[in-house]
Amino acid sequence: MRLVSVTSGKGGVGKTNISANLGIALSQLGYRVVLFDADLGLANLDVVLGANAEYSLHHALDGNMCLGDVIANGPGGIRFLSGGSGVSKLINVSRKRLQNFLLELSQLETSTDVLIFDTGAGVDQRVLTFLRAADEVLIVVTPDPASIADAYATIKVLLRNKKNANIQILMNQVEHERQAEVIYRKLNDIAGHFLEANLSYTGSIRHDSEIVPFIRARHPFVTADPRLRASKDIVMVAKTIAKRTSVYEDSQPLISRLEEAFGIIHAHDPAQTAA
Ligand SMILES: Nc1ncnc2c1ncn2[C@@H]1O[C@H](COP(=O)(O)OP(=O)(O)OP(=O)(O)O)[C@@H](O)[C@H]1O
Ligand SMILES: [Mg+2]
Repeated sequence: MRLVSVTSGKGGVGKTNISANLGIALSQLGYRVVLFDADLGLANLDVVLGANAEYSLHHALDGNMCLGDVIANGPGGIRFLSGGSGVSKLINVSRKRLQNFLLELSQLETSTDVLIFDTGAGVDQRVLTFLRAADEVLIVVTPDPASIADAYATIKVLLRNKKNANIQILMNQVEHERQAEVIYRKLNDIAGHFLEANLSYTGSIRHDSEIVPFIRARHPFVTADPRLRASKDIVMVAKTIAKRTSVYEDSQPLISRLEEAFGIIHAHDPAQTAA
C-alpha cells in the first residue's frame, strides 16, 4: 500500500479537489483507493465527493468501532474516511488507542493499493505527522507567488522533520504545461541551492473554469465530464503516479513506519527501555 499525502503551503489551492479526483482517476486505473480526510480545520472531503459518511475517525478512536467499519463507500469506486475533529484527537489520544488505530490503518494494506491523505495547508504538527508517514508528499502549488513562497516554506519544514522525504511538486491552476515546468524548475533550483533538496515533478492541472459548476453541484469533475481540461490533466497525473509504484517498495513494515511518524519510537522509548 502506498501512502500519498496531498498538502500545500498556502490554503485554497485545490488540495481536496485534487485528492478526490486523483483518487477516482486511480480507481479507474484499477487501484483500490482509500481517501483519508486529514484536514482538521476544514474537513470537507465528503462535500467535494458528494458523499455522506455516517461515521468518522472519532468513532474509530472511541474504541467502539473498528476502522474498517468507519470507512465509507464513495463515488467512482473509492472508499473514504472522514477525519474531522478526530484528526486532532489522534494526536492526543492515549498511546494504546493510537497503537491500535495505527495497526488497523496498516491492516488496510490487504484491501488497499493507495491511501491518500488530504491534509490542511501549512505545517503544524498534525499536518507534519501525515507528511512524515507518507511515502510521497504531493505539494500542490499554483502560479500565485504566495503559493510558491509558502510551498518553499513547507518543504523547508518538512525536510527538517524528515530528511529523506520524497517530495513531488504538483502544479495546479496553470495556464499551460510550460508555465508549470518553469515554476517547478525555479522552485527546484532554489530548494537545491538552499536546502540541498531534490524535488520531483508530478505534472500539472490547468486552470479550468468549467469545473466550477461541478464543484458547486458536488460532482467530482473527473467523472462528471472526462473531456474537461482539468479531468484530462488529472488522469495524466494519476498515470504518472501509478507508473512510479515499484519505486516505493519499502522493506520496513508499514506499522513501524506509521508508529515512527506518529511518534511511537521504540528504540528510544524510555517506557520500553525501563521494562
Ligand atoms: N484546476 C482548477 N481550475 C479552476 N479552479 C480550481 C482548480 N483547482 C481548484 N480550483 C478552485 O479552488 C477552490 C478550492 O479548492 P479546494 O477546496 O480543493 O482547495 P484546498 O487546497 O483543499 O483548500 P483548503 O486549504 O481550504 O483545504 C475550488 O473550489 C475551485 O473553485
Ligand atoms: Mg481542502
